[in-house]
Amino acid sequence: MQTGSKEEAATRGEIVIHNLHKVYTTKKSRFEALHNIQLTIGENEFLTILGPSGCGKSTLLRIVAGLEDHTEGSVMVDGEEVIGPGADRGMVFQGYTLFPWLTVRENIEYGPKLKGIPTLERRSLSNYLLKMIRLESFDKSYPKQLSGGMKQRVAIARALANRPKVLLMDEPFGALDAQTKLEMQEMLLDVWEKEKTTVLFITHDIDEAIFLSQRIVVMGAGPGRILKEFNVELPAERTPEVREHPEFLSLKRELAGLLKH
Ligand SMILES: Nc1ncnc2c1ncn2[C@@H]1O[C@H](COP(=O)(O)OP(=O)(O)OP(=O)(O)O)[C@@H](O)[C@H]1O
Ligand SMILES: [Mg+2]
Repeated sequence: MQTGSKEEAATRGEIVIHNLHKVYTTKKSRFEALHNIQLTIGENEFLTILGPSGCGKSTLLRIVAGLEDHTEGSVMVDGEEVIGPGADRGMVFQGYTLFPWLTVRENIEYGPKLKGIPTLERRSLSNYLLKMIRLESFDKSYPKQLSGGMKQRVAIARALANRPKVLLMDEPFGALDAQTKLEMQEMLLDVWEKEKTTVLFITHDIDEAIFLSQRIVVMGAGPGRILKEFNVELPAERTPEVREHPEFLSLKRELAGLLKH
């Protein structure tokens, strides 16, 4: 694990992004992908980044994950600088990233097994997570036997199996049909409430951003930067009816207007 000191951190899952710049350079070109990103995501907050294609959302998430270098600035998780990937930050991408040769349960137990967690403890953890993602009866199935939504649920459980402080999600439901997407959103909120992780979520989908988040950050391109922040003033419990709430509709209009430009 590349963050987290031996001492108990004062916060759990607080992300502080300070003066972050990212320039991609080749021998012939220089491309500024992120310009002076300044963002703090609180402990157990659900924050979504919305923005047009190419504005640097994935680049930012990959930097927080420690999968990508940055050019200037810093990213701290609970006061420790991110210098590489770590089990404290779980990632879920749009593509299905399960191991095809492992069963659902083995996929979920993969991280804990690497960490040397004993079989019985692993079993009880995977039981808990299988229940949470509502796939108890699919524990012996292989990824190819699952639907897209089911695979993504396993991917979430696999990320949670490492007990991360932070979940980093890059358009995790982008490839799913509309109905499955709504079910996944409700399941994710359920998971977030139970696991008390901080969630940094990326999407193109305005409705999805409002339904899920406490706060939304809109990014713009050329170079990738933060345009505006919104607090989502909706009831904490997000039932499907929340989508008809006047605040939901007015925020949706405002975000759509901002993203059009
Ligand atoms: N390895 C790389 N080398 C050079 N340029 C890159 C690299 N990765 C990304 N970029 C550029 O950085 C910009 C931001 O890319 P990024 O993938 O972060 O965008 P995004 O906001 O996630 O887009 P999308 O919504 O389409 O996923 C793009 O213009 C892209 O071409
Ligand atoms: Mg992307």
